[in-house]
Amino acid sequence: MAPPEDGAVGFIGAGRVGQALSRAFARAGIAVTAVASRSRGSAEAFAAQIPACRVFDQPQAVLDSANTIFLSVPDDAVASVAASLRWRPGMAAVHCSGASELSVLAAVRAAGAQVGSFHPLLMFADPEVAAAALPGCAIALEAEGPLLHRLEAMVSAIGAQTLRVPPGARAAYHAASHYGAAFLCVLLAEGMKIFDAAGMSGDLPRKALLSLARGTLDTLEHNDPARAMAGVYARGDSGTAARHLLALEGVSPEIAALYRTLALRSVALAQEAKRIDRESADSLRKLLQANENRGAA
Ligand SMILES: NC(=O)c1ccc[n+]([C@@H]2O[C@H](COP(=O)([O-])OP(=O)(O)OC[C@H]3O[C@@H](n4cnc5c(N)ncnc54)[C@H](OP(=O)(O)O)[C@@H]3O)[C@@H](O)[C@H]2O)c1
Repeated sequence: MAPPEDGAVGFIGAGRVGQALSRAFARAGIAVTAVASRSRGSAEAFAAQIPACRVFDQPQAVLDSANTIFLSVPDDAVASVAASLRWRPGMAAVHCSGASELSVLAAVRAAGAQVGSFHPLLMFADPEVAAAALPGCAIALEAEGPLLHRLEAMVSAIGAQTLRVPPGARAAYHAASHYGAAFLCVLLAEGMKIFDAAGMSGDLPRKALLSLARGTLDTLEHNDPARAMAGVYARGDSGTAARHLLALEGVSPEIAALYRTLALRSVALAQEAKRIDRESADSLRKLLQANENRGAA
C-alpha cells in the first residue's frame, strides 16, 4: 500500500462526533482518508458523506491510510483502542474526550508517536447540524510541538477558535463546560415541568422559555453574569421569593430543593456584585433555609 499523504486524517469511531468533525474537515479541504468503527454500518454512513474516504473493518488499517488518527470513540474505550493498535513515530493519535488527560494515550507515546486532544465545546446530536455549528465554536486543544501546530491549523481551517486547557485541569474544565450545555438543559427541563404543573402545557410555554433563555444569552454576550442577572434575587424581593417557594413545594420536593440551591447561589452573586445589601441577603438566606428545613421535615 502507498504511504499515506502528509496531513491525511483517519477516524476510529464513526459516531456523532466522528461524523460531524469529518464533514467539517472535508469541507475545509482537509483530507479525511479512512474510517473504521465497531460496526461497519456506522463507518459506511460516515464515509457516505466524505468523498474518497475508505471504510475498513480493522482499525489498524486506518493507521496505514492516514497520519493523524482521531479516536472518536466513547471515553472509556479510548485507552483500550489506542493500546490495541501498532503506532509508528511520525503518526499522531488524537482523542476527543473533554475529561480525559493525555495519559490515556500512554501506549501511543510509548511507541514514539505524538498524542493530542481535540475537544469541541459543542453538543453533538445530529451530525449535519453539528458540522454546521462547528465554525464559530471553541475547541479545547492539548498537544505539543508539531502536532499542536497541526491541530491549531485544523481548528482555524474549520473556522473555530482554539482554547488551551492546562495539563492536569481537564476534569475541572469539563465539569465547567456542563454549565453551558447539559446543566442548561436540566434547568430548562425544570422550568418546563413547573409550567406543566401550573397547567401551562404545550408548545407555546416551551417556546416562551426558550426565547427567554436566548435573550439572556444575548445579554451575557456584553455583560458579566452578576450584572446581567434580573429577577427576585437581584432585587432582594423577599415577599415574591416566599410565594415562589410556597408554589414549588406544592409541585415536588426535588423541584423546590433545586430552586432553593439556585436561589441561594443567586443571593450570593447579587450580594458580591453589590446589587443587594447585606441585610436583604441575610433575610433571603433565612427564608430559603427555613423552607429547606420545612421540606426535609
Ligand atoms: N457527544 C458530544 O456532545 C461530545 C462533545 C464533545 C466531545 N465528545 C467526545 O467525543 C467522543 C465520541 O463521542 P460521541 O458522542 O461521538 O459518541 P458516540 O456517538 O457514541 O460514538 C462513538 C463511536 O465509537 C464507536 N466505538 C465504540 N467502541 C468502539 C471500539 N472499541 N472500537 C471502535 N469503535 C468503537 C461506536 O461504534 P458503532 O457506531 O460502530 O457501534 C460509535 O460509532 C467521546 O470521547 C466524547 O466524550 C462528545
